[in-house]
Amino acid sequence: MADTATLAQTTKPIPAHVPPEMVMEFRFQDDAEFQRDPYARFDALRARGRAIYTPFARGVGGTGGWVFTHAEDIRTIMQDPETFRSSGVRKTGQVIGDNWVLIPTDLDPPEHGKFRTLMNPIFSPKRMALLEERVRSLAVELIEKMKGRSSCEVIADFARPFPVGIFLEMLGLPADQIDRLVEIEETILHTPHHEQVNGIRALRDYLAVEIEARRKVPTDDLITFAINSQVDGRPANDDEVMGMCFMLFLGGLDTVTSTLSYVFHYLATNPDQQAKLRADLSLIPDAVEELIRTHAVVTTGRIATRDVTVGGVFIKAGDYISMPMGGASRDPAEFERPTEVIFERSPNRHSAFGYGPHRCIGSHLARRETVIALEEWLTRAPPFRLQPGAKISSTGSGVVSLNQVPIVWS
Ligand code: HEM
Repeated sequence: MADTATLAQTTKPIPAHVPPEMVMEFRFQDDAEFQRDPYARFDALRARGRAIYTPFARGVGGTGGWVFTHAEDIRTIMQDPETFRSSGVRKTGQVIGDNWVLIPTDLDPPEHGKFRTLMNPIFSPKRMALLEERVRSLAVELIEKMKGRSSCEVIADFARPFPVGIFLEMLGLPADQIDRLVEIEETILHTPHHEQVNGIRALRDYLAVEIEARRKVPTDDLITFAINSQVDGRPANDDEVMGMCFMLFLGGLDTVTSTLSYVFHYLATNPDQQAKLRADLSLIPDAVEELIRTHAVVTTGRIATRDVTVGGVFIKAGDYISMPMGGASRDPAEFERPTEVIFERSPNRHSAFGYGPHRCIGSHLARRETVIALEEWLTRAPPFRLQPGAKISSTGSGVVSLNQVPIVWS
């Protein structure tokens, strides 16, 4: 789930309660080791101790704070929303002067539970089954478009338009809007701050028009669902409808694109593993689960509501905390040979989708999208490998992604 407005480099003096030996000048945005291999970087941070304190903010308007990388600590924090709040962590609506917040991710109990209950049916097995057909035909459409070619850039040609198409489908928006929304998404997530703000405004305006249209002519899509939803016995208000729709955009797009970037990179650089899946497609669901574990893309945040100690680290009320799921999901305390991709790993209770009440509501859809993408690629396209000489690096502080994945086939 994406943090918007993540590019500022805000600093703040180190608070007195932070032991000097825990301070490290770590910037998610431009740490060279992180860009080379974010997961190895998290492994190194974990090996250093229970947490570090960086003076650099991960998000715009944020401050420096703690970075925890041990699964046990991250679980403790995410399972205790009273002590570690989500509200105020992201400022998506605020940066354009609006009052809406991302729903349900920016809410704390008891409000969070009300909206989460309301939104759960969006991802019900029945709705997912209806969507599945469309997800598959979208994957096929994008792959078939590449017929006759012997190379592509996975992100631009597939991994970005694919989840955008699914979002359009879910919200009942016309498929021909795909380029427009890809452009808005790029602006929100991958440009300097002032442009990000323009992207947020553009999406808000886009959704506002659609919400207004559904108020006049209701349909059976998710915008109408959000408009008709009842909270505390009253209809959801405009800000709440906007918060829910915006969240589906931010939650479901970049996460899946980024996951696919690592999945395709892994298969392009591990031909034996690719061949293994081609030989037995029934391995794909477990392989996807394992690749989601080894390449958990989300780093989320919380703010402490009181003084508290976690893993022996004293945290003061108001302290900001970052938690890379990619740190937790490769913790040797929880997984044997944690850095290895073992398709048959069982059990595989990883943290890529988070823990506790905010655990990803779209995890089932995300898995299905990734499984379907691989099923269709591996049956429709010949074995692929990374383009020789390709310059690969990672970026992103809320959702980490490869910058490009150029592949070739013959
Ligand atoms: C591989 C892809 C995905 C990953 C790794 C992922 C990861 C996560 C994580 C770690 C959280 C917890 C954040 C926190 O506690 O602060 C989360 C929350 C959420 N995700 Fe996902 N996600 C993915 C795909 C999706 C999709 C496809 C959707 C919807 C279309 C979605 C919608 C959401 C929503 C709405 C929340 C907030 C839930 C709440 O606050 O109760 N995610 N996701």
